[in-house]
Amino acid sequence: MRIDILTLFPEMFTGVLSSSILGKASEKEIVEFHISNFRDFSESKHGTVDDTPYGGGGGMVLKPDPLFRAVESMSTDKKPRVILMCPQGVPYHQKLAEELAQEEHLVFICGHYEGYDERIREHLVTDEISIGDYVLTGGELAAMVVIDSVVRLQPGALGNQISAVEDSFSTGLLEYPHYTRPAEFRGWKVPDILLSGHHANIEKWRLKESLRRTSMRRPDLLEKLELTAEMKKLLAELEEEKKLEDKS
Ligand code: ADE
Repeated sequence: MRIDILTLFPEMFTGVLSSSILGKASEKEIVEFHISNFRDFSESKHGTVDDTPYGGGGGMVLKPDPLFRAVESMSTDKKPRVILMCPQGVPYHQKLAEELAQEEHLVFICGHYEGYDERIREHLVTDEISIGDYVLTGGELAAMVVIDSVVRLQPGALGNQISAVEDSFSTGLLEYPHYTRPAEFRGWKVPDILLSGHHANIEKWRLKESLRRTSMRRPDLLEKLELTAEMKKLLAELEEEKKLEDKS
């Protein structure tokens, strides 16, 4: 997979893309990162990339020319997905991460200004993505979030492939609680069932705890899920337990 990043602040990416899973993925050539300063694609002598808005008003607007030239300079066989990071974009979620992870080439456009000339949105960009309902000073941090979530899904990027499959959101449920040694820490014990070695019971316990956590923290996720017969049974058990707790 090739990932291009167009930004006015390339230095923001250096630590993130060279550390941990992303750093290893690029060392192993699972992903190739190309970071460009789109100021280098400005035709003006001073490297101008923005201008005042037509019609007046405050703030500056990113000009179309440097960004079009930057994307068009990329030599690729297939048209890449060109992603504009902005608060007006579609809300980011795991399904979109899984979809983007299938692509061979992604281009991220990160702006730091009041706005983008609308022709960038209409004629250059294929996707607009927001990472949440809040406003960042620029698209760089948002692009890093998306890149991280996409690269970790590439085959071989995570040491243990199982961990991506069992992620919260991939299954549609939040993850069950995890424990490791010691079996007792400051008087707090690991649930007996996890020490029992009985795999079928452990799986059932994990599913029940995933359902418990999801119904408490993210009931909206449960509503979207097609429940299996086992899930329905476990949810009914949780409901009974809650009723008993409420009574006592
Ligand atoms: N740029 C500024 N805020 C953003 C957000 N919430 N998501 C994506 N890009 C952004």
